[in-house]
Amino acid sequence: MVYKAVFLDIRHKEMKERENFGSKMAVILAMAGSAVGLGNIWRFPYIAGENGGAAFIIVYALASFFLALPIFFAESIIGRRSRANTFGAMKTLAPGTHWKWLGLITVLTPLLILSYYSVVGGWSIEYLFKALAFDFTGAPPDKISGFFGSFISKAWEPIIMHTVFVGATTVIVLMGVKNGIERFSKITMPALFVLIVAIAVYGCTLPGAGKGVAYLLKPDFSKLSGSAVASAIGQAFFSLSLGVGTILVYASYMRKEENIFSAGAYTTIADFLFAIIAGFAIMPAVFAAGIEPGAGPGLVFETLPFIFNQMGASVPWLSATVAILFFLTILVAALTSSISLMEVGVSYLIENTKLGRKMATVLTGVFVWVLGIICSLSFGPMSGLLIGGENFFGALDKLCSNWLMPFGGLLFTIFVGWKMRKADVADEFTNGGTCNRGIFKVVYFLIRYVAPVGIIVVFITAILGL
Ligand code: PHE
Repeated sequence: MVYKAVFLDIRHKEMKERENFGSKMAVILAMAGSAVGLGNIWRFPYIAGENGGAAFIIVYALASFFLALPIFFAESIIGRRSRANTFGAMKTLAPGTHWKWLGLITVLTPLLILSYYSVVGGWSIEYLFKALAFDFTGAPPDKISGFFGSFISKAWEPIIMHTVFVGATTVIVLMGVKNGIERFSKITMPALFVLIVAIAVYGCTLPGAGKGVAYLLKPDFSKLSGSAVASAIGQAFFSLSLGVGTILVYASYMRKEENIFSAGAYTTIADFLFAIIAGFAIMPAVFAAGIEPGAGPGLVFETLPFIFNQMGASVPWLSATVAILFFLTILVAALTSSISLMEVGVSYLIENTKLGRKMATVLTGVFVWVLGIICSLSFGPMSGLLIGGENFFGALDKLCSNWLMPFGGLLFTIFVGWKMRKADVADEFTNGGTCNRGIFKVVYFLIRYVAPVGIIVVFITAILGL
């Protein structure tokens, strides 16, 4: 078990230096590493742009703290109580019931997500190469705006980059993340944060940026349809890695002494801040560059080169350095998320079939790779294939984020709120009554009533097309 290795290491350290801050931080960093990724930098700005900006962001904030966070707690309680993968958790806590199907759905969804996530991961690799070649600094602005469209509509190049990304994810999951990505991400995550703040500050100074700031701060509730609300909730789930068992699997490696409440709260706050700052890094520049905020999945990739190009006009070396560091850290952030997606499937295969880690990881990698190829081609040769008005990539993303993730989250809250004994839930959340006793009542209410009712209401409004 890759993550078992990480957390066993943490446990080992803690046995030596009891209750040390560093190891608590390691759990939070692992969860935050999964949460912070392309969802914040790539997905959040364009989904906010498609759904009207500020009003969407308010719903997204409410969804993050009142729907997603309780589900974070529910998944953590299930994971740490059962100490198993999603399927094993259901079999342990509710033996002989249909709950095992929830365990199975949450094995499949992360793999569907990973297939298109890897395509975007591939785009980031391409942009890293472009940054290394100083493409953003030297080229005339009109050429730069065409980069993205011409790249994704090609057949081979994006598939090659997708292959590299899936390959990297597979290798890391295969080898273990302890010495590589975890240590690396401890340095790069703060670096990414600093870079994105710097880009946000710079972006806000560009001529014409004021409209973008207003777009993020002045809500227009008339644009808020049922499907926009569903998208806001879907974004909260996607960004916090919820409803697909990732947090459940991570929590299964958490020590009994660790505080579920603070892990959830810190992860949610960090993830939320990252998304909002990414919004401020991108949206003012979107307006400054005259790009449509609803331009879709290419938004960040069309906007960033514009920012780097403008920067390059004044200080070329700085712009090139920022561009290289930026795409490198995005790539690392994407990898700390993609490995967590792959691990859910791999841990299931290892613990429930006869496959060893090697075979399980390779099989999962091949599945994701093949499906990802279709996603990649759906921007080029297969763009004619539309499902509900979306290309294959978009349709798969909508299915996962707006439906399967909230559905998984709904069932996790019902499981903890209605199926598990309250005493067990309280015991797990309060570490045997030693912490968080005051907040438990509120959290239990959110898990039992607010989160499930909220999700069901949104499902109904979205289905009825309100
Ligand atoms: N939360 C990750 C991101 O924002 C994506 C992810 C979704 C990871 C679901 C794991 C599970 O990039």
